[in-house]
Amino acid sequence: MVPQWTIEKKRDGERLEDCEIREFIGGFASGKIPDYQMAAMAMAIFFRGMDAAETATLTDAMMRSGDLLDWGACPMPTADKHSTGGIGDKISLMLAPLVAAMGVAVPMISGRGLGITGGTLDKLDSIPGYNSRLPVADFQRIVGDVGCSIIGQTARLAPADGKLYALRDVTGTVPSIPLITASIMSKKLAEGAGTLVFDVKFGRAAFMRTRADAEKLLESLVSTGRRMGRKCDAVLTPMDDPHGRAVGNALEVAEAVETLRGAGPADTRALTLDLACRMVALASPGQAGDGLRAAIEHALDSGAALGKFVRMVEAQGGDPRFVDNPALLPQPGASADVLADRKGVVAEVDAAKIGRVALELGAGRRAVTDAIDPAAGIDCLVARGEAVSKGDRLMTLHAATPALAEGLVAAARDAVSIG
Ligand code: URA
Repeated sequence: MVPQWTIEKKRDGERLEDCEIREFIGGFASGKIPDYQMAAMAMAIFFRGMDAAETATLTDAMMRSGDLLDWGACPMPTADKHSTGGIGDKISLMLAPLVAAMGVAVPMISGRGLGITGGTLDKLDSIPGYNSRLPVADFQRIVGDVGCSIIGQTARLAPADGKLYALRDVTGTVPSIPLITASIMSKKLAEGAGTLVFDVKFGRAAFMRTRADAEKLLESLVSTGRRMGRKCDAVLTPMDDPHGRAVGNALEVAEAVETLRGAGPADTRALTLDLACRMVALASPGQAGDGLRAAIEHALDSGAALGKFVRMVEAQGGDPRFVDNPALLPQPGASADVLADRKGVVAEVDAAKIGRVALELGAGRRAVTDAIDPAAGIDCLVARGEAVSKGDRLMTLHAATPALAEGLVAAARDAVSIG
């Protein structure tokens, strides 16, 4: 294969053959095809697109660039969820143990947050002792014993994606549906769960700003998964307002525990239950039907899901006492309340602005190498539709120092529109 001929073919809008895609990705993964040719190919794909078959081949080639996990020895059916990321999105923390409590194993490999999107791994890392960098053998043992485990991406899982994503990030080729699909799906398929449910966000704080674009991504993810022999389902979730009332790592863990106790914010609970129903119905069809929703609500309200969460934390080296005593989670150096400057009804809480304030408080990172403050963030956040009087609390900011927390009060107030 002459790489430039394959690039030229895509540049000119032709479809690529299966073998051309495989040779190109294989060459890039092994270092024979240099970054500049891969970057040119990514740009050609960005402009010319790929059809469903090409996208599936690209996904398969990237998936096969590393290890493929096998769950054949797991006594339960397996399922996983992928969210495209949102502000206050702590759903995985409740969902994995809830689905495990229903007899469906959840092997979840998650990412860290970058920019204003929070990462499940950063949230779990705020739990004292929790080890998110387990070897794959331990991950598989815990999934078999407990029913769920959440760890971070390993270097051997779809390594071609890690290399290509770094290139896309600096060459303006991230927002391409076939490239996003292959990136997400190569990792999820290598992880090996038999069933996948996608939560594709749309709105001002989402990767996909419009519902129409989110629908295109959803369709591409689901059709690629099905072509590759996985049962898939998906939901579209608005991401204009944050999920729940807490944004930040330890703060979201505390809110997840509240939700696992059968309480927690209504939107967080509803999305968790919806995704759990879809995962269980697909992975364990014998449980599908009229009684499934009630059975899942019972698993949440009875403490069964919380029990699974505690066992997962313990199995991964964490100290689960924070479940009864949230003060054992990392605590901020300073806090500042943000008060309403007038009476009215909350018309919106801008998730993008809230995400930026949380990042400035120390809860997020601008570059992958940045350290985060696990205690930083926002809680007690008001929600759209709530009535407030002048002087009422709209949210509380937490940071390492009083200057940092107080310095962001005005920006935080600007995120809430009172109509
Ligand atoms: N998440 C990924 O893993 N890859 C993308 O390309 C976009 C979001």
